[in-house]
Amino acid sequence: MAGQVPAKVDIIGASSELNLNLDHTRLMGNPKIDVPLAELRAEALRALGACTAADIDGWLARYLGRKGELTLALRGIAERPADERRDFGAAANALKDELEAALARRVEELGGPAKGSVEALDVTLPGRRSLQGRLHPTTRTIRDITSAFSSMGFQVVEGPEVEYDHYNFSALNIPEDHPARDMWDTLWVDRADADGRRRMLMRTHTSPMQARIMERQKPPVRVVVPGRCYRYEATDATHEWHFHQVEGLAVAEGITFADLKGTLLEFARRIFGADRKVRFRCDYFPFVEPGVDMAIDWKGRWLEIMGAGMVHPRVLSGVGYDPERYTGFAFGMGVERIAMLRHGIDDIRQFAANDLRFLSQF
Ligand code: DAH
Repeated sequence: MAGQVPAKVDIIGASSELNLNLDHTRLMGNPKIDVPLAELRAEALRALGACTAADIDGWLARYLGRKGELTLALRGIAERPADERRDFGAAANALKDELEAALARRVEELGGPAKGSVEALDVTLPGRRSLQGRLHPTTRTIRDITSAFSSMGFQVVEGPEVEYDHYNFSALNIPEDHPARDMWDTLWVDRADADGRRRMLMRTHTSPMQARIMERQKPPVRVVVPGRCYRYEATDATHEWHFHQVEGLAVAEGITFADLKGTLLEFARRIFGADRKVRFRCDYFPFVEPGVDMAIDWKGRWLEIMGAGMVHPRVLSGVGYDPERYTGFAFGMGVERIAMLRHGIDDIRQFAANDLRFLSQF
């Protein structure tokens, strides 16, 4: 390439005299081709001669860049009359080589390549790996939990995060002004009905979907409901004001507490390992009777991972199910808590902190 640049061309003082030294003029028999390319050449060399180091990138873009004048001229070859194409192509390519060589020399004169210019491109450097996205640990945990249940015949359903207090509380056997409402500190939506009462809130748990699903569907019901929940809560390492739960509900004829135990034991073994033991202890939740908390054995201790119980007859009759005929069990667990156990995470606030040092570990 350098050989095509006449050594005596002084690109700094580029002038009409340069045309005489054109190597490629030999190829340019056609004046229609000659004129624009020769003009382009003269103009480009003159501009290059006037460039300071800071102008080099602009010059490169203007003449040789993707939308540069010479590049466009080269691209226009196809539109030229057939008998001109060959000569024009050869001339334009020769000019391109010449301009590149002139550029290299100009850059040299100006004291070496500036950052970002062509000469700064070292094609022998190893490539940069492009960043690959991945699923958030909460999403992955939700998928692990729901697929454990869907392989046992549960459907996966989602529900609204802004909920009526009816579904969040009343339909779950937590009447208005009942002290049990204090178990869940609530964020209310600031929108009052005509009677001045606020009825909408950010759901405090995924349990409201129990009633919504049963209202829509006849038994048998077997669903798990993953989703985000909210509480009016001061945050610390184990409390967040927003977090995720997975709710479960199975209702049909003849379901017993043994079904609850068998299903949740199987779940614990799929998520936490085949030898996992579980423990059920009595607990109180207004929408189940009896209610339990389930713990798993973990490094020599019992760790509670979810609440569960047999669906309260009042919840069943509230949605029009006959509690004499149908029975069922329900359960609810905190997703972040399960992810924290599995991965040894010690602060629940990490999940929403959006810190890549944390997220890229999963
Ligand atoms: N909704 C409860 C909570 O947020 C968890 C729960 C307990 C769900 C027992 C259930 C259940 O379905 O049976 O604390």
